[in-house]
Amino acid sequence: MDNSKIKRYTVTAALPYTNGPVHIGHLAGVYLPADTYVRYLRSNHRDVKFICGSDENGVPITLKAKKEGTTPQAVVDKYHKIIGDSFKEFGVSFDIYHRTSSPMHHQTASDFFETLYEKGVFTEEITEQYYDESAKTFLADRYITGTCPKCGFENAYGDQCENCGSTLNATDLINPKSTLSGEPPVRKETKNWFLPLEQYEERLRAYIESHKEWKPNVYGQCQSWLNAGLQPRAMTRDLDWGVRVPVKDAEGKVLYVWFDAPIGYISATKELFEYARLDVWNPKAEEYYITENGMEKGSWEEYWKDDATKLVHFIGKDNIVFHCIIFPAMLMAHGGYILADNVPANEFLNLEGQKISTSKNWAVWLNEYLVEFKDKQDVLRYVLTATAPETKDNDFTWKDFQARNNNELVAVFGNFVNRVVVLTHKYFGGKVPMLMEVTEQDQQVIDELALFPGKISASIENYRFREALTEVMNVARLGNKYLADTEPWKVIKTDEDRVRTILNIGLQIIATLEILIEPFLPFTADKLMKMLNYGGHQWEDAGKMNLLVRGHQLNEPVLLFEKIEDAEVQAQIDKLNQSKIDNTLANAVAAPAKENIDFDQFSAMDIRVATIIAAEKVEKTKKLLKLTLDTGLDQRTVVSGIAEFFTPEQVIGQQVSVLVNLAPREIKGILSQGMILMSENSDGKLTFVAPVQNHVNGSVIR
Ligand code: MF3
Ligand code: ZN
Repeated sequence: MDNSKIKRYTVTAALPYTNGPVHIGHLAGVYLPADTYVRYLRSNHRDVKFICGSDENGVPITLKAKKEGTTPQAVVDKYHKIIGDSFKEFGVSFDIYHRTSSPMHHQTASDFFETLYEKGVFTEEITEQYYDESAKTFLADRYITGTCPKCGFENAYGDQCENCGSTLNATDLINPKSTLSGEPPVRKETKNWFLPLEQYEERLRAYIESHKEWKPNVYGQCQSWLNAGLQPRAMTRDLDWGVRVPVKDAEGKVLYVWFDAPIGYISATKELFEYARLDVWNPKAEEYYITENGMEKGSWEEYWKDDATKLVHFIGKDNIVFHCIIFPAMLMAHGGYILADNVPANEFLNLEGQKISTSKNWAVWLNEYLVEFKDKQDVLRYVLTATAPETKDNDFTWKDFQARNNNELVAVFGNFVNRVVVLTHKYFGGKVPMLMEVTEQDQQVIDELALFPGKISASIENYRFREALTEVMNVARLGNKYLADTEPWKVIKTDEDRVRTILNIGLQIIATLEILIEPFLPFTADKLMKMLNYGGHQWEDAGKMNLLVRGHQLNEPVLLFEKIEDAEVQAQIDKLNQSKIDNTLANAVAAPAKENIDFDQFSAMDIRVATIIAAEKVEKTKKLLKLTLDTGLDQRTVVSGIAEFFTPEQVIGQQVSVLVNLAPREIKGILSQGMILMSENSDGKLTFVAPVQNHVNGSVIR
């Protein structure tokens, strides 16, 4: 969108499902980039509303209630509070954090559906849907899992595969299973209302193709859906939790959660203006509420219906189809609404090399982080932005967290600020010294500094937050280098006026840093503001040399960042390892114990340590490898059924345990002399049983 045409912004962040706390993946993927963008806009005096809330309808909630043995209402009440508090504490500066269980939302979503219904948009169809006979419920969405027909992922949901991102219909799943009973479902007829997406294909294509500037992952996914051909999609469900379908003959049916949730952005905006009215209502100003285009001034409608509004959706990659295809189709069908100008979706953040998983407790939960790293919100904000999965999946590790804190925030940013402020207090009683003679060296730094705000703006406006943050850190680096080059602590002995100039410039750089860092690290910006005793961030001031005037009194220096010790991150790593152990225990389904044997029977077995020195596949078999073992006693051949798990190359050099006195046996024409011991996991995966440290071949196992 042409910047000069933009009058205001509506920025939305995906409404999180209210079925658990939020973790670092949510923050890195959606809420931090959104918050940074919005803070930047505000610092530029742009008119912006930042909208979010809890997604409280649909199967994710009812499933959780069942699991916790409580009601859906109790689930959403509990997590709405936890999630909302986490956002607040991390400084995510929504203008409203709403909920889709609110009357305002039910009304808005219901009206929206009714409008489409009255316009004859929906097709009414009786189809066979999956039904669980023991639970007596239809199995919509996450109530059913099965194998994804597109990618083969085994735990795809009835409406979506989280592995490949495809949207699915439950009846597409291979080997469907009810999440309630674990049983294969039966089919039963039911009536639903379908949105004929294929009728919007041309308009959607034109819309998407007018946005070639979108991130390649987003644009590419949209193209591939359009090219695959769009299908009608049911917008109602047989469920008893959600927004009731507001038409005749729809008892026991609610709106599909992906129909009502994005409307949640609209209902939240409406609610925001309800509050605003209550706060600022001034009857005398009534006439000003009507604008040129006939809309109420300062009404929610301006933020959703005026072409001069730039609408931006921040989401994770699993939400792309809903925001780029389905929601726009709904808005087109309704009419009168603007469409998103951009949908900057991120990829996923992994944790210590593994996919973040709520069910496996493989996550860093924001509410727990805040207890363990009190007042260190900005450290996490920093690390998550610096490693954000903007173009590909990325990995969060605790070692990297520690390194970035110690080597970047403490050693670069904090160190620079601290040195300048401390020296100003030491030499000049904390008063901003006068800029005296500006040398060529000074001028270079001043010129370089002036270029940063523009560069950083361009990165932020193009949703490249990592790049922007790197540039902000480069301002601190510039400052550090300037200090190292000019050495005011030495020069003070001979030339006090020179030090006045150096520290003046150093302080102006800090004032600029305060402005530039605020969208990323608001708590740090606040501390800087207090330390500088200064009014604070307005983007257009960044890079200027007169932000702090001569004689201005600074406050005492405070430490911005502190070193994080090995023990602190080790505790986090230990905690994750404990989750791993807990999971293994929870998943263990041990086979029943065998009957007792006596000691002689046991000691009759001659088990030795051996090394695989050669391996090849046994021809015309799938499972067998022919292995040559060095047993310490001899070299011999053993045929082993492990070819589905290991290639020959992988096993050569592997130490193993082998039962050497098992009677030889011919397998596929090969004489097999012994048996290798393997451990079989509950999911059927095999791994070798070997001494934990290498032992010499022939060592006895007993
Ligand atoms: N609750 C969804 C999720 O967590 C996101 C909903 S976004 C909205 O994946 F647009 F529907 F609100
Ligand atoms: Zn898939």
